Amino acid sequence: MKKRTRNIALAAVGIFAVMQLFPIEQTNPPSDPADDFITVENPPEEIAGLMKNACYDCHSHHTEYPWYAGLQPVGWFMKNHFEEARGELNFSKWRQYNDEDKTHALEHMAEEVEETKMPLMSYWIMHPEAKLSGDKRQKLVDYFKSKIK
Ligand code: HEC
Repeated sequence: MKKRTRNIALAAVGIFAVMQLFPIEQTNPPSDPADDFITVENPPEEIAGLMKNACYDCHSHHTEYPWYAGLQPVGWFMKNHFEEARGELNFSKWRQYNDEDKTHALEHMAEEVEETKMPLMSYWIMHPEAKLSGDKRQKLVDYFKSKIK
């Protein structure tokens, strides 16, 4: 190996090693089950299952961290997504939303799922159970729309 190539390779390994010194905190903020979307709205079991598989890792306080969340910079990228997602929509705080917030959220939920923007592709590639077939997608969209008051 040429000296320069070797130095670059060593630097890359070094940077990667340093990144591992800054792991993400793999915890979930506390939440009251009574506030949860599924408790409040009591959707049919199939819908609840679809939402848990396809939305809850990001949009709730029930995130399951896969092993590669312990690998930086992947973990940083994921943590950033969780925080952004919960900021937009948090199913663990559903009961605390007022009627206007709920309507607004449901409209966006139907829209994002219908337009195949949610769940994010970077997510379902790693979580095949979150990949929505056209049929499942439609069921979710119909359900969200049916809840709009
Ligand atoms: C991998 C994490 C992830 C998953 C899984 C996921 N989302 Fe999101 N979601 C995000 C992020 C990040 C944002 C904020 C940035 C954006 O809009 O792309 C967001 C934004 C949203 C928004 C707000 C969009 C807007 O502009 O108003 C809605 C509504 C939403 N998601 C619904 C859902 C629903 C419903 C599911 C399940 C079918 C889902 N998401 C699954 C990460 C996720």
